[in-house]
Amino acid sequence: MLAGADLAKNYGRTTALHHASLVVDRGESVAVMGPSGSGKSTLLYCLSGVVMPDGGEVVFDGVRVDELSDAGRTDLRRSDFGFVFQFPGLLPELSAVENAALPLMLDGTARRDAVARARELFPSLGLDGLERRRPGELSGGEAQRVGIARALVLAPAVVFADEPTGSLDTRTGDEVISLLVSTVKDRQAALVLVTHDERVAKRCDRIVQVVDGRTLPEPKRVQ
Ligand SMILES: Nc1ncnc2c1ncn2[C@@H]1O[C@H](COP(=O)(O)OP(=O)(O)O)[C@@H](O)[C@H]1O
Ligand SMILES: [Mg+2]
Repeated sequence: MLAGADLAKNYGRTTALHHASLVVDRGESVAVMGPSGSGKSTLLYCLSGVVMPDGGEVVFDGVRVDELSDAGRTDLRRSDFGFVFQFPGLLPELSAVENAALPLMLDGTARRDAVARARELFPSLGLDGLERRRPGELSGGEAQRVGIARALVLAPAVVFADEPTGSLDTRTGDEVISLLVSTVKDRQAALVLVTHDERVAKRCDRIVQVVDGRTLPEPKRVQ
């Protein structure tokens, strides 16, 4: 469903990516692993149309993402992709469920309907009963799960997560990843998860290693 082939990206004289390829299907989760600075985030940004690659191609559902205009890529990101980052960046003056509903409201859905749809995601993410809390009243793991709800509320085909457990302790991170992987799978979306944590990566169906801007040719299969 989403395929990046032979991607290259330079920042000035820095080669961030060079011959990087990754394929992910609906309902499948892929972990992107590698040392700091190896190009993991750049690969995720190229695949998701945030950054234009200098070489190679990205195809999503038969569409060449790397040939779309800026506006076309923005539309695609809004309609088909969801994003989870290291810090959820919730708006402090909104409740948890309003934060999760925000993409729908920005898309023109009435507040009541948006909140109702966001609320449906809360039980599966272990957030039942926390709908009205403010971000300041949530733990780090709860806030990150609200961030996941926000990423899922528009029913994306692909969820991109860049070090989503980077700011959490091991146990909380494990819980968040379990919920992220299972919720994305239940919804038959694809997941591209950047992490340098092998425990986290092993929760995914496949692991793609990135070294010096290259993906290794034989992705490791997880049992
Ligand atoms: N916007 C940018 N401008 C300049 N250099 C960048 C930029 N983004 C990434 N880089 C460089 O590209 C390389 C890969 O970065 P990145 O994809 O962020 O790696 P990772 O996510 O694996 O830590 C690094 O050398 C980084 O310094
Ligand atoms: Mg990174």
